Amino acid sequence: MSADEDHGDGFFGERAASVYDERAADMFDPAAVRPVVQMLADLAGQGGALEFGIGTGRIALPLAERGVRVAGIDNSEAMVARLRAKPGGEHIDVTIGDFARARVDGEFSLSSPSAPIPKESRSTSSGNCRLLV
Ligand SMILES: C[S@@+](CC[C@H](N)C(=O)[O-])C[C@H]1O[C@@H](n2cnc3c(N)ncnc32)[C@H](O)[C@@H]1O
Repeated sequence: MSADEDHGDGFFGERAASVYDERAADMFDPAAVRPVVQMLADLAGQGGALEFGIGTGRIALPLAERGVRVAGIDNSEAMVARLRAKPGGEHIDVTIGDFARARVDGEFSLSSPSAPIPKESRSTSSGNCRLLV
C-alpha cells in the first residue's frame, strides 16, 4: 500500500484498520467490554450515545445491541468500513470527519470519546448531555 492510500484516514488508515481488532484482541474480550457497555448504557438511559472515534465498533456495537441508539464520528473510512461489515454495523449512524469540525444532528444524552477531544469540539456536548473525558 502506498502512503497515499492512507491519506485522510489519519493514523488509522487501511493498514492499521486491517489489523486493529486482532491487535486489540484484549480490549475486545467480552470481559473487558461488558462493564464498559453496562456503564455507558446506564449513563445513556433512554437518550442516545455519540461516540467520538467509533472505529470498528468495539463499544458501539454491543451498546447498540443493548438497545441504545448509537451514533459516531470517525475520520477513518477504513476503520468505519470494518464497523459496517459487522452484524448490526449497517444500522449505526456514522459521520466521517474530524472531531474538531464534524457536526452530528440529533440529541444525545451521552458522548464518549475514545481519543482526546479538542476543546473546540466540546461545545457539541451541551444541555443534558454527559461528556465522558
Ligand atoms: C484507538 S481507536 C478506538 C476505536 C474504538 N472506539 C474502540 O474503542 O475500539 C481511535 C479511533 O478514533 C479515531 N480518531 C482519532 N482521532 C480522530 C479525530 N481527530 N477525528 C475523528 N476520529 C478520530 C480513529 O480513526 C480511530 O478509529
